[in-house]
Amino acid sequence: MKLEDVKKIAIIGSGAMGHGIAQVCAVAGINVVIKDIKQEFLDNAVSKVKESLTFLVGKGKIPQKTLDNVMNNLLTTTLDTKTAVADAQIVIEAVPEILDLKKSVFKEISGLAAKDTILATNTSTMSISEIGAVVDRPERFVGMHFFNPVNRMKLVEVIYGNKTTDETADLLVAVTEKINKKPIKVLKDSPGFIVNRINAPNQALFSAILDEGKEKPCEIDAGMKETGMPMGPFELADYVGLDVFCHTLSYYSKTLSKDYTPGKLLSEKLKNNELGMKTGKGIYDWSAGKAVIDLSKKSTTITPMELLAVQLNEAVKVYKEEVSTSTNDIDNSLVFGMNAFMGPFGLCAGQDPKILTDTLNKLSERFNLEIFKPEPEIIDGSYKNFNK
Ligand code: 3HC
Repeated sequence: MKLEDVKKIAIIGSGAMGHGIAQVCAVAGINVVIKDIKQEFLDNAVSKVKESLTFLVGKGKIPQKTLDNVMNNLLTTTLDTKTAVADAQIVIEAVPEILDLKKSVFKEISGLAAKDTILATNTSTMSISEIGAVVDRPERFVGMHFFNPVNRMKLVEVIYGNKTTDETADLLVAVTEKINKKPIKVLKDSPGFIVNRINAPNQALFSAILDEGKEKPCEIDAGMKETGMPMGPFELADYVGLDVFCHTLSYYSKTLSKDYTPGKLLSEKLKNNELGMKTGKGIYDWSAGKAVIDLSKKSTTITPMELLAVQLNEAVKVYKEEVSTSTNDIDNSLVFGMNAFMGPFGLCAGQDPKILTDTLNKLSERFNLEIFKPEPEIIDGSYKNFNK
C-alpha cells in the first residue's frame, strides 16, 4: 500500500487520545470514522473536535473551510465495528490501557478488516508483539504512539512489533508526516518505548518522594519550570492523570523491575478518585481548570540535575538495548513528545561523569531503589561516544 492509497482511517476509542488523533487526521484531508461503545462518547468527541477547530479558526491557524470540510464531510462516527473498519486502510486503536481489552478489540477487528489494512495500537507502554499476536497478519501490525494533547504535541513513535515489516512501519512514517507530526521509529518493542521509558524511573522517583514526605511537589516543579519545561513533573502527572501514571508504573513493575511498584500515597489517591485535572483534584487542586501551584520556593535536594541524571541513565539503557540506536532520535523524542528544550544526551554532552555518578548513587541510597544505579557508560563518560 502507498500513502496515496490511504483514504480512510478508523479510530477505535473516542477519548482524549482518540478524538485528538481523529482531529489531526481529518485536518490533513483524510476521511476519519471514530468508533466507540456509547453514542454520548461519540457526541462528546465530535463536539471536542469542533471546539478545538473553532479555536484554531479564531487564531487564524486554519481556514473556516477546513473546519466545515472536517465537520460536514470528513469526520463520521459509528457504534458498529464493521462499519468503521471494513473499508479503512488504517485502523488506530485508542481504547483504555487494559491489555485484555486491546487484545479483544483487535481480535474482532482482524476478522472484519480487509487483508491489507494496517492495524495500529496507540498503547503508551504495552508490548506491541503481545497485542499483535491476536491478529491474522501481525506483519501489518504496528505501534503508533501519540502524545497528549494530540493536537499540540508533535511526536508519534512508530513502534516495531516482532513481526512488523519495514513496509508497514514506513507507510506509518509517511502517514505521520502527512498529518503534520514528527515520526520517530522505535526499533525494539520494549515497555514504554522511548519517551515513556526514559521518564519511567523519574515516575518511580516521584512516587517515592511522595511517600517519603520530605519534599513538596510544588518545590520540585518550581525548579523544573525554571529550566523552561512547560510543566513541572507533578503537574504533568496530574495533567495526564494519576490513574494513567499508576497503571504505567504497575506495568513497569511487572516487566522492568519491582522498583516500579506504585507507592502508598499514589495508590490512596487512586482509591479516592483524586486523579488530577480530570477529577478536579490530584497532587494539586484543579477545580478552576488549571493547577494551583506555589512556585515561590525550590527544592534543594531534588533539583533539575537529579531528574536529568535519572533520565540520562535510562536513555543509556534505551540505547544499549537498541530500542533506538541514535542519540539524536532519543533526544528528539523528548523534544517533540514533551516540548523539552533539549534531550538528555544533548544536555549532558559537557557534563562531568563523576557528578552524574554521585547524583545517581545518592538517589539510589536515599530511596533504596536499584533502578537509579549508574550504568557503566555514565561512570566512565563513554555515553558521550554513542552514535548520533
Ligand atoms: N489545537 C491545536 N493547537 C492548539 C489548540 C488546539 N485545540 N489549543 C491551543 N493550541 C495552540 C495554541 O494556539 C498555541 O500555539 P502558539 O504557541 O503557536 O500560539 C499552543 O497550542 C500552546 O497553547 P496554550 O498557550 O493554550 O498552551 P500552553 O502554553 O499552556 O501549553 C501545553 C500547553 C502544550 C500542553 C504545554 O503545557 C506542554 O507542552 N506541556 C507538556 C505536555 C507533555 O509533556 N505531554 C506529553 C505527556 S506524556 C504522554 O502523552 C504519553 C502518553 O503515553 C501518556
